[in-house]
Amino acid sequence: MTDRIVLAYSGGLDTSVAIGWIAEATGAEVIAVAVDVGQGGESLETVRQRALDCGAVEAYVADARDEFAAEYCMPTLKANGLYMDAYPLVSAISRPVISKHLVAAAKQFGASTVAHGCTGKGNDQVRFEVSIQTLGPELKCIAPVRDLALTRDKAIDYATAHDLPIETTKKNPFSIDQNVWGRAVETGFLEDIWNGPTKDVYDYTEDPAFPPAPDTLTLTFDAGVPVAIDGETLTPLQIIEQLNRRGGAQGVGRIDIVEDRLVGIKSREVYEAPGAMVLMAAHRELENITLEREQARFKKTVDQRWTELVYDGQWFSPLKRNLDVFIDETQKYVSGDIRMELHGGRATVLGRRSETSLYDFNLATYDTGDTFDQSSARGFIDIYGLSAKTASEREQRLHGGPDLAGAGVQK
Ligand code: ARG
Repeated sequence: MTDRIVLAYSGGLDTSVAIGWIAEATGAEVIAVAVDVGQGGESLETVRQRALDCGAVEAYVADARDEFAAEYCMPTLKANGLYMDAYPLVSAISRPVISKHLVAAAKQFGASTVAHGCTGKGNDQVRFEVSIQTLGPELKCIAPVRDLALTRDKAIDYATAHDLPIETTKKNPFSIDQNVWGRAVETGFLEDIWNGPTKDVYDYTEDPAFPPAPDTLTLTFDAGVPVAIDGETLTPLQIIEQLNRRGGAQGVGRIDIVEDRLVGIKSREVYEAPGAMVLMAAHRELENITLEREQARFKKTVDQRWTELVYDGQWFSPLKRNLDVFIDETQKYVSGDIRMELHGGRATVLGRRSETSLYDFNLATYDTGDTFDQSSARGFIDIYGLSAKTASEREQRLHGGPDLAGAGVQK
């Protein structure tokens, strides 16, 4: 039987050319698989037909939008997943779900190999191949751009020579990856990190400098996951989509950072993730009122480790799964309402309300009704400060007094 290769197909120039390119280089039949993670653009039927026109023996489209939103975006929200405190893991979380569908397709069509269109310089090749190896250890991976010398110029020549039904003249200076959780833009003049992004970089967001009137909304969460907007019950996908629209109109969620890639390169990326950033702000504040203090402090370190594992392509790894269990357990009481205002690039929390809140008005108030026993504070501080005080007394005995220089006090 002829060898078969499943190709992660986007419908763009590189992966369209890759169909014939891989077939010629390996003698295998190519099965194109397009996965819908809410990237928008062309209809997937158009994309499927193009794959067949470019020589794929089979073309298969998987609608993974709800799965991606519920099983990849929601865990990222529960983990407050912001790589380098800024990037909501847009591409990092799409690779594992795409890989899952590629591996399923490889099994279904009896393929030995999975191919993807990544270069050898980025994180995405690692995420694809580590995920594929984990889910289908018997499968091989190839990357035509990286392994079969498929450069952009060669792709254009090939498409023209073979009369492939794909635009070769459109000159987009950027490399873009997008899905319902956000959009990543790199290369072109953004590679000079002194250059600010121009208007044409953005697509999911309007300019926050000229916002429409403020937009206020109430988000309801149940166990760490948003379940309704303004009282209307919605799926995770619907919630992200609606917040992309409403947040995007206010210019919320524009991010511009130089980030550390797993492969050792620092790279400049511009992101837009309006829905994700609105949800993150709301979720974090709801955690502030519902998590116990020590749990919250410890969760921060777990969140960060989870985020780094996911950024580094370890979505299906044992440690990531273990941390999921911890994170899920912490979300038990992260339920309630967050009232927010979206305006001029910012998502601001205005109010919080929760049946499972740990905020106790009577403990917090400075007005009548105070139930906090202030007389206990003095003894608490004496004991709490005792070890530092004892160490300081030793310092004084051996070296004479603490250094108060700069405070204007003579020793
Ligand atoms: N740097 C980001 C990451 O590693 C995004 C990469 C997505 N690709 C792109 N062409 N912008 O997750």
